[in-house]
Amino acid sequence: MNHDVSEIKEGNTSLLVPSSALSEIVPPKNPAFFNPNAKWNRDISMLVYKVYTSSSKNKTLADSICGVGARGLRAAVEVPQIESIYFNDLNPIAIEFAKESAKLNQVQDKCIFKTNDVCKFLNFEEREIRRFDIVDLDPFGSPSPYIDCVLRSVSNGGLISITATDTAVLCGVYPSVCYRKYYGFPMRSEYSNEIGVRLLVSFIALNATRFDLSVVPYFCHSNLHYLRVYLKIIFSSSLANTVSSKIGFIKHCKECKSRRIEKIREQNLVCDLCGAKCVMAGPLWIDSLFDSDFVNSMLNELKNTENGTSPRNDHNRLLKMMQICSSELPIPAYFETDSIASSAKKSSISLEKVISTLASNGFQSSKTIMNEKGFKTNASPKEIIELLYK
Ligand SMILES: C[S@@+](CC[C@H](N)C(=O)[O-])C[C@H]1O[C@@H](n2cnc3c(N)ncnc32)[C@H](O)[C@@H]1O
Ligand SMILES: [Zn+2]
Repeated sequence: MNHDVSEIKEGNTSLLVPSSALSEIVPPKNPAFFNPNAKWNRDISMLVYKVYTSSSKNKTLADSICGVGARGLRAAVEVPQIESIYFNDLNPIAIEFAKESAKLNQVQDKCIFKTNDVCKFLNFEEREIRRFDIVDLDPFGSPSPYIDCVLRSVSNGGLISITATDTAVLCGVYPSVCYRKYYGFPMRSEYSNEIGVRLLVSFIALNATRFDLSVVPYFCHSNLHYLRVYLKIIFSSSLANTVSSKIGFIKHCKECKSRRIEKIREQNLVCDLCGAKCVMAGPLWIDSLFDSDFVNSMLNELKNTENGTSPRNDHNRLLKMMQICSSELPIPAYFETDSIASSAKKSSISLEKVISTLASNGFQSSKTIMNEKGFKTNASPKEIIELLYK
């Protein structure tokens, strides 16, 4: 290759990447894009793909916007149940890197490489199989323009994994952009990332119903720079008919922090509890963002690979996240310790103390993977403040 190339190890996989991607603070798009900081999100993908393929063989994966192929290559090496991996990127140099890495890892026999526009690759290319069991979509910015193509290319019972890096849009900085990209309004609040994930899932689920498809969230997570969702797709018009029961609105009072789920967009934005003006986010997904069986299987898989080759601190970080996720209450809209403290005009109380105080007073309470200071509870904000600070 006519580029400055570095070889790195991620998981069990050797990757050839542009050297500039390792030396510059913001990974450059030229000669090909690679973000070393996305290792964590690819670690999670490997865990999800392992669990998803655990009871079946011969699965296919489309890494539809693969860059230098990091995710697809790791799947080829680390997820043996995946039999063929299709790599696609519009940038031929990125595909050159992916091809060389495939040879380096001796997985080239199960790798197929394409250099097409993502939608042409997913929907219109001649190939042996029409639909993929797993379709990954990891674009620059919003995935919104490509969702139809992904939905048309996944098999019945298949898995789609989608990244959104337009977090400012989904988390409330640009509401009008959010509305036109995702058909829903975001909200600036302490839990705006959870709202962003729910808007994204709702957008995908509603688009899926147009193709008589139904969506089941397996796992979703968020980070400062991106949101990521893993959804099972089922071909069923009768299940698709039930989507309206899973879509709604959240009415949030900035003053007293109360939040209410509404099935329809309420016109009355006055808070029932304190009389202040509320804000409304949605339409968004109000059902669970996690499948508890799937999450437990992710946790078990991690426990079984305690001596895996991932650096120990990465493994432990993943284990901690999945332990929290397995006991996270399926209640939308988390609270945050600092924000509750500021409402009470007192100093913050540790998350552990908050959760144990709520539990010992008969309320449900749990941590959330969406925020390290976040907690979910069926207590109202008034009850939380009274218990913690009075
Ligand atoms: C965020 S990067 C992908 C990163 C990759 N998934 C990874 O884990 O390293 C986005 C990629 O989109 C590619 N791209 C941009 N527009 C595209 C299009 N219309 N079709 C296919 N690839 C495209 C770029 O060349 C770039 O490599
Ligand atoms: Zn209020």
